[in-house]
Amino acid sequence: MELAEDSLTFHRLSEVSRRTRLRLRKYSLISHMRGLWFARKLTRHGIVVVTGRYPAPRVLNRGGIIDVKNCEFYEGVRLEVYKGGILTIGNGTYLNRNAVVIAVGRVEIGNDCRIGWDVVVMDSDLHPVDANDQPIESSPVIIEDDVWIGCRSIILKGVKIGRRSVVAAGSIVTKDIPPNSIAAGVPARVISNNPEKAEFFLKKIKSVPTSD
Ligand SMILES: CC(C)(COP(=O)(O)OP(=O)(O)OC[C@H]1O[C@@H](n2cnc3c(N)ncnc32)[C@H](O)[C@@H]1OP(=O)(O)O)[C@@H](O)C(=O)NCCC(=O)NCCS
Repeated sequence: MELAEDSLTFHRLSEVSRRTRLRLRKYSLISHMRGLWFARKLTRHGIVVVTGRYPAPRVLNRGGIIDVKNCEFYEGVRLEVYKGGILTIGNGTYLNRNAVVIAVGRVEIGNDCRIGWDVVVMDSDLHPVDANDQPIESSPVIIEDDVWIGCRSIILKGVKIGRRSVVAAGSIVTKDIPPNSIAAGVPARVISNNPEKAEFFLKKIKSVPTSD
């Protein structure tokens, strides 16, 4: 019995050591240290890495919850959460250079998402139309697993982007995008709902190890 427990502990330790070696091969110790520094302002977090140079990514938490799993952030990223707001980011997701996410109410970004550089995700217009002390309204933004958002796109309030979809560069998403599709333009429209095509681009971007 004791022998079985010992061997179980040994297997667990060797698995942890194998994963640590793999991680360090992919991301340097410095990226992990910068990740720890960044993560100190998150409510809950997994293993966070920060790659790229300066400015360092920033968190502005005005009294909400930021729950980030094992993720990668590039320089200039900003996560902003208002009082009572909730921002969640899933495992294996990265936010590229200068991406900004603002959660007044709720923003959910799923697992294995690729958020391109200069992308803005916001669940509110922020300033009320009638500015006389009106509370800021918001409507949840949900980005499901395996979504790729091309650079300089803007995802606006109340939008759900279905899993395994691609948003083309420079799009402004104002309405839901169904799963397995490619959407483009201002405002974004579905230009392909062929899952094989979306899969092709997702495979392509996943084979690129760094920021672009
Ligand atoms: C979405 C994308 C992958 C599609 O590539 P593609 O399948 O080769 O697209 P095509 O060039 O065949 O274009 C198909 C149609 O969509 C249109 N289109 C493609 N990208 C568009 C965009 N960003 N905005 C508006 N329309 C776009 C094309 O004009 C074309 O329209 P048409 O059929 O009327 O001529 C690519 O356009 C894109 O946006 N890549 C993002 C790159 C990026 O952001 N990289 C940084 C990563 S962090």
